[in-house]
Amino acid sequence: GRRLIVAIDGPAGAGKSTVAGKLAADFGLLNLETGAMYRAFALKAIENGVPSDDAAALEKLAAETSIGLEATPAGNRVLLDGSDVTARVRDAAVTQAASQVSVHPAIRSWMVDLQRKLGEKGGVVMEGRDIGTVVFPDADIKIFLDASPEARGERRFEQSGKVTTQESILKEIRERDQRDRNRAQSPLRPAPDAVVIDSTDLTLEEVVNKVQDLITARL
Ligand code: C5P
Repeated sequence: GRRLIVAIDGPAGAGKSTVAGKLAADFGLLNLETGAMYRAFALKAIENGVPSDDAAALEKLAAETSIGLEATPAGNRVLLDGSDVTARVRDAAVTQAASQVSVHPAIRSWMVDLQRKLGEKGGVVMEGRDIGTVVFPDADIKIFLDASPEARGERRFEQSGKVTTQESILKEIRERDQRDRNRAQSPLRPAPDAVVIDSTDLTLEEVVNKVQDLITARL
């Protein structure tokens, strides 16, 4: 049958990428980070001067955009119309725009189709906001990784090289959460059959161990 599909969803800064990367290495799975795809499209919108709230213009832009995601041992490489934009999609302006363009139903449907094509053969750990609920509702293992906004803000601050303040990171995280949780199409929430892990008081190593046990029990 199809190879394993592991879905990891949750808000920004919950540790999804770290956990997914570790699982991918341990179980020989491809780690596909769907947030990078929304980020790449947001970058294209910025480059073309298309506002994040112009649904019709964004949909038109999407029709002439190609987004690729490659899992490499060093992490995901994201391609926008054939160019490597892996580093550029981490800009603060892109982060903000990704959160905004991902609200639009037409953009989400387009991305979901791409993501299903990337993962359909299995052997993947796919992370995002709606993987267990929408992209792969029949995933073998669904994890919803959560943590308090404060804990997430602190982790992001530690990873950021401290070029900004912890306060501004917390503010950005709260805003993105709000938008993800309250949008009409595929809002951020655990699938009914997801295992919810609150990592507020856990190290990421402890989280990884928990998920490894879940996967091992399924193999
Ligand atoms: O995960 P990451 O922070 O890179 O995602 C960037 C933005 O893309 C998020 O703030 C979220 O709004 C959106 N996103 C989404 N659905 C996904 C992955 C990301 O809406 N599956």
